[in-house]
Amino acid sequence: MFKIVRKKQLNEQVVLLELEAPFIAAKAEAGQFIIFRLDENGERVPLTISDYDREKGTITIVFQTVGSSTTALGKMNEGDSISDVVGPLGTATEYGDNIKRVAVVGGGVGCAIAYPQAKKLFGMGAQVDLIAGFRNKDIVILEDEMKKVTSNLYICTDDGSYGTKGFVTDKLKELIEAGNNYDEVIAIGPVIMMKFISKLTEAYGIKTIVSLNPIMIDGTGMCGGCRVTVDGKIKYACVDGPDFDGHKVDFDELMKRNSAYREIESEHICRLTGGKRNG
Ligand code: NAD
Ligand code: FES
Repeated sequence: MFKIVRKKQLNEQVVLLELEAPFIAAKAEAGQFIIFRLDENGERVPLTISDYDREKGTITIVFQTVGSSTTALGKMNEGDSISDVVGPLGTATEYGDNIKRVAVVGGGVGCAIAYPQAKKLFGMGAQVDLIAGFRNKDIVILEDEMKKVTSNLYICTDDGSYGTKGFVTDKLKELIEAGNNYDEVIAIGPVIMMKFISKLTEAYGIKTIVSLNPIMIDGTGMCGGCRVTVDGKIKYACVDGPDFDGHKVDFDELMKRNSAYREIESEHICRLTGGKRNG
């Protein structure tokens, strides 16, 4: 059992949980993920590790309550326990040699995953510019945490209600054109955002890593659910990734695969709650 030691509601739909998981905390690195099951009949849900504390033996996950399992998880409280948590899974992010200047881009709840990337790189002594994009001011998350691990934090909102008005792509273009010579860009967020960030950086010849979030089932390379095409070759995000070279990913295929079960899911009656999936 994995005990919840801290819970924080970050916005109406996004929850942070810190879990007692000493064996996972001992090995976790930025870019890796876990799969949880609420009980033995529960669905397997992958979540990228947002933070870890090796001394305390805890890991932190941040998630949006979009489906029945994440909604049920979001209702749990400090002191409650989750039945299964497997991890760390996936390959840790590999950073280029001598990376001195990097732009980390987070979109919405993807900022929870951009955060450990920024923290790791900042800790390695790199100059880290973090561009964090949200639809509006009310759903901004982790601002204080991100500020502590960045040289510059740029918050953008689609409607201009906080920070700079516009998409993260607009801010990144502005910073590149202002003469910031980034060695690498790391982007995590909606697939469409990662696609357009990659298109932009390709034009400037800047190496770009994206963290893909295809549908996952077993998380061990066996089921094929997380298949993605990278550089024309089949890869499995759970074992070969989730990080890939953004200039080589077939984003359109990923978007198609991610939406393949949307209709079925909306009709699916959940065995846990007896209700329909609400995401
Ligand atoms: P969102 O739709 O509110 O978008 C967040 C930001 O992304 C926007 O504010 C904007 O700056 C940027 N963006 C969106 N569309 C864009 C476009 N067409 N061009 C350029 N920039 C664009 O995000 P959300 O609702 O919080 O959803 C977050 C997404 O991140 C989810 O789809 C989730 O699955 C994904 N996610 C991915 C990972 C991962 O590991 N890859 C982890 C967590 C979340
Ligand atoms: Fe099954 Fe990756 S989740 S192969």
